[in-house]
Amino acid sequence: MALLDLLETYRQPLALVAGLSLVFYLLSRLHQQWRQHRFAKENGCEPVVGKIRNYDPFFALDRLYFLGKAAKERKLLENNIKRFKDYGNTHRGQRITTPMLVTCDPQNIKTFLSLKFNDYSMGDRIQIFGPLLGHGIFTSDGEDWARSRHMIRPNFVKEQVAHLEIFEEMMDDLFALIPADGSTVDLQELFFGYTIDSATEFLCGHNVHSLKKRRSGVVDGEPDFAEAFNYSLDNISKNGRYGPLMFLNQHPKAVESHRVCQKTMDQFVDKAIKLRENAGNEKVVDETAERRYMFLYGLAQQTGDRRRIRDEVLNILLAGRDTTASLLSNMFFLLAKHPETWAKLQEEVATLEGRAPTYDQLRNMKYLKYCLNETLRLYPVVPVNSRTAIKDTVLPVGGGPDGQSPVFVAKGTAVAYSVYAMHRREDFYGPDAEEFRPERWIDLRPGWEYLPFNGGPRICVGQQYALTEAGYVTTRLAQRYSILESRDPGPWEEKLTLTLCSHNGTLVSLRH
Ligand code: HEM
Repeated sequence: MALLDLLETYRQPLALVAGLSLVFYLLSRLHQQWRQHRFAKENGCEPVVGKIRNYDPFFALDRLYFLGKAAKERKLLENNIKRFKDYGNTHRGQRITTPMLVTCDPQNIKTFLSLKFNDYSMGDRIQIFGPLLGHGIFTSDGEDWARSRHMIRPNFVKEQVAHLEIFEEMMDDLFALIPADGSTVDLQELFFGYTIDSATEFLCGHNVHSLKKRRSGVVDGEPDFAEAFNYSLDNISKNGRYGPLMFLNQHPKAVESHRVCQKTMDQFVDKAIKLRENAGNEKVVDETAERRYMFLYGLAQQTGDRRRIRDEVLNILLAGRDTTASLLSNMFFLLAKHPETWAKLQEEVATLEGRAPTYDQLRNMKYLKYCLNETLRLYPVVPVNSRTAIKDTVLPVGGGPDGQSPVFVAKGTAVAYSVYAMHRREDFYGPDAEEFRPERWIDLRPGWEYLPFNGGPRICVGQQYALTEAGYVTTRLAQRYSILESRDPGPWEEKLTLTLCSHNGTLVSLRH
């Protein structure tokens, strides 16, 4: 009642303030539009002609429904390519209320990832990944990101990633899980186990032994890190699709899984910090740390901030685990369908005369490299990605009727890019762009039109590590099994979560 009285008393001045605020808002919007118009004109920008049509012009909710349906039918990427055919290599769209530009043009991609890196941020990644990853290299921007990158980079120099004995030790577990009688095995499941074991060993000096557990069939009752990590990632990747509506995807099991992952990491971090504090005291120097370089120990030497170290390691685990496993799974799916390629790989590994390859030998195996490149071209592990403009800026192409003029990008616009569509463009890769043909790499030297590891300042920091691991596992499998046969009668179908792998796994038979 008192409030109503008050409103009544001050009705006129309040109406005046509201009116003035409205006028001020409209004038500042007009001024902003005028400034943007002038900026666009100065830079020769033309409007982008193609626009994804939505039935709901306000929130584009029909798009969400359509994406959900395409995800269920495993046709997100097929539709992605179709959209570029329908609307052009750079077109407009809408993500709930956020304006969006979508591109598969290397000139544009080079511009926002590299030339005008500082005009863009990672958008809502911290909100999506934060509950599990906190603040680390993958989830931060600006100065914070630069600090993380600076701290992590030295851990990936050649001397650190060339420790092939980690990979060799785990090959026994992998071999043991492949049926000796040539019956069908899903290699994809095994590769995911292999990479979480190797990543936890490399990063924390503590292998979570998911392959050994699978091998022995023993259930120890302990909360399982690999299982919790899988659940957390699934939940996070759904959040990514929900965007601002991610509050609809809250599950107590996700909170518990995040907790299990963080608690497990905390134990490793504490051990590394203790090692640092006791450096020089021979009695407490851990055997593992002495035996080989340990990433976590490297971080603990740079900071004593427990939470910071944990977040960084979880960030790298996320960036590094599923990616390499997906590359291996997709590649073996393709190799199993292309016996002539497997035969050529066999010839190449035969030069090692059965011995495990050294780091330099791996780097010199050309045909292996062609197979890895070709798999990453057809099935880039991170097929679609995005950035958000943090100031008014310009992209070089996509405007005007012929799509060749520069394009104005207003602050707040989401710029989505499809490496998947770009890698299949016939104008770059020829009329057989959709085919798996490793031989094309004999004389192919692509620039920004080939981008499986991203480019610019945020280029994948683990590229060499990933290629070494994938190359090593492939070589050892090719040395042991002369026959690789597909046991999947159907074509490859997408499973697109945070990374891209095969919906039906990698069903094969391997024989000597
Ligand atoms: C085949 C395997 C891999 C592929 C295709 C791949 C691809 C990528 C891509 C596309 C990005 C850019 C993401 C973005 O900025 O939005 C990235 C970033 C990153 N990758 Fe990889 N990656 C692979 C393996 C690895 C491995 C094994 C590690 C570490 C052990 C790793 C660590 C990272 C990190 C830390 C970043 C963030 C870099 C930054 O933002 O400065 N990656 N990777």
